[in-house]
Amino acid sequence: MSRFFVTTPIYYVKDAPHVGHAYTTVNADALARWHRLIGDDVFFLTGTDEHGQKVARAAEEQGLDPLAWTDQMSPRFAEAWAGLDVANDDFIRTTEPRHRASVERFLSAIYDNGYIFKDSYRGLYCVGCERYYATDELVDGNLCPDHRTPVEELEEENYFFRLSAFEDRLVEWYAANPGIVVPESKRNEALSFIKGGLKDISITRTSIDWGVRVPWDDEHVFYVWYDALINYVTAIGYGEDPERFDEWWPSVHHIIGKEIIRFHCVWWPAMCMAAGIEPPAHVQVHGWLLLGGDKMSNSSVNRITPASLTEEYGVDPVRYHLLRDIPLGSDGEFSAEGISSRYNSDLANNLGNLLSRVTTVVGSKCGGVGPVPDPSSRLADVAGTVVADAVAGWGASRPDLGLEATWRLIRETNAELEIAEPWKAEPGPGVDAVLGSALEVLRIVAILIVPAMPATAREMWRRIGLEGTPEEQRLPEAGSWGRYPGGLTVEKGAPLFPRRKD
Ligand code: ME8
Ligand code: MG
Repeated sequence: MSRFFVTTPIYYVKDAPHVGHAYTTVNADALARWHRLIGDDVFFLTGTDEHGQKVARAAEEQGLDPLAWTDQMSPRFAEAWAGLDVANDDFIRTTEPRHRASVERFLSAIYDNGYIFKDSYRGLYCVGCERYYATDELVDGNLCPDHRTPVEELEEENYFFRLSAFEDRLVEWYAANPGIVVPESKRNEALSFIKGGLKDISITRTSIDWGVRVPWDDEHVFYVWYDALINYVTAIGYGEDPERFDEWWPSVHHIIGKEIIRFHCVWWPAMCMAAGIEPPAHVQVHGWLLLGGDKMSNSSVNRITPASLTEEYGVDPVRYHLLRDIPLGSDGEFSAEGISSRYNSDLANNLGNLLSRVTTVVGSKCGGVGPVPDPSSRLADVAGTVVADAVAGWGASRPDLGLEATWRLIRETNAELEIAEPWKAEPGPGVDAVLGSALEVLRIVAILIVPAMPATAREMWRRIGLEGTPEEQRLPEAGSWGRYPGGLTVEKGAPLFPRRKD
C-alpha cells in the first residue's frame, strides 16, 4: 500500500475563507478521496496560519487580544470546508501547543546545526505579505507588488537563516528530482531564482510579540513564515513521534498557489536540509482564479464566499466546477456563467439525464428491478478505456482530465440509449441488456465521481439499488465491467440536477 500525504497552505485568519482558498482545498480533498479510492493510506492536512503582525493588527482593530480573535476566525475555515464536503484528517492551528513545541524543536535543530546567526537588518517590509522586499521588486517606487500598498521601513537586530549555504544543494536536489515541482514552468521559476543567488534571510523579529519565541533568546519571536511552514511536519509528529513522522515524510504533496513558490520551493526545502530532514518530495503549484472575464485582482475573488456559491448551485456542482474548469497549474476563469453552463451541460443534460432516464425506463419496462449488464456491450470497451484514462488523469493530479474521461462514458451511454430507444421497445431480453449495461455504467460512474461529488455518488449508488457506498469500492478492480449484479430494486427519484434557466 502506498501513502498519500496531501496538504494545503494554512490560510491566514485575517480574511474570511473565499473561493480562492476553496479552490485549493477542494482540489486537495478530491485528490485525497481519489487516493483513498485506489487503496492508498491517506493523510490530508489543512489549517490556519495565526501568528504575525498582520493578525496582531487585525485583532487590535477589533479590540481583542490576538488569541481571542483567532479563536473566532479559525473555525470559519473549518466550517467552510465542512460546507464543501471536505474531509480533511487534521486541521492544524499554528497557535496550538503541539505546533509551538514543533517550531521550537525544528528551529533549534537548525540553530544547533550552525545555520542561524545574529545580525542587524534594515529593510522594506510589507505587512500584508509578512516579508521584506528588495527595492527592485517594488512597483511605483514603494508599493508591494502583490498588495499595491506602501512598504514600511524596518530596522531590527535579527537572527538570520544561512540560506546562501544551500544554493548548491538546492540546485543538485532539483537536478536529481525533475518532478518535485510541477508544472515545469514553476519548477524553472524556482530553480532560476536559486541560480540567481540566495541571500541569507532574517527569520526573527523583536518588534512583535505575537508568535513563537526563540527558545535560546526570548527577546525574539520567529517570523510568521518560518513558523507557518513547519506546520506540515508538526501534524505528522515531527520530534514527537518519530515512527509516525517517518511513515509520512518526505513523500508529501504540497498544493500551493503560485504566489508562494519561493517559500515552498526554496526556503522550505532549505530549512528541511538545515534541520537535518529530507526536503518535501512534491510541490504542486496552481494558478489563480480570475474573476468574470476581468483581468482579475486577487481582491475580487476574496469577496466571494464558498457558502454563497453552494447556496446558489449546490455543493457538488461547485466542487465539480472548481475541479473540472480550472486545471491545476494554470490560471482559470471563474464566473457565474461558467458554473451555470457547466452545470447544465455536464450535470443536468448528461449525468442527471442519464440517471433519470435509466431509472425511469427500468421502472416502466423491467418492473423497477435492474437487469444484469450485457458482457458484450460496446460500452464495456468504452468503460475500460475511460477507467484507465481516469486513473491516469487523477494519478497525474489532474482532476480535470479524470473528469473529462468520466464524462466521455456518460455521453457515450446517453448516445447508445438514444439509438436503442428502450423506452419505445417491448420489454424483453433486448431491453434488459441495454438497461443492464446502462446501470453498470452508472455504477462505474458513481465510483469515478466519488472524489469530485461524493454526495451525488452515494445517491446514485443508492438509487440503482447497490449495498454499501461507492467510497468503499477500490479501483481499478471495482471499475471492471460486469459487476452490477442485477435483481436489485431501482428507484426513480427527483432529478438530481434540475436544469437552470440562467
Ligand atoms: O499565503 N486563486 O495564506 P493565504 C487560487 N498563510 N488560489 C487562491 C486564490 C486565488 N485567487 N487566493 C488564495 C498564505 N488562494 C500563508 C500560507 S503555508 C505554510 C502559509 C489560495 O490565506 C492559494 O492556495 O494568503 C494560495 O496559495 C493560498 O490560498 C494563500 O492563502
Ligand atoms: Mg495571500
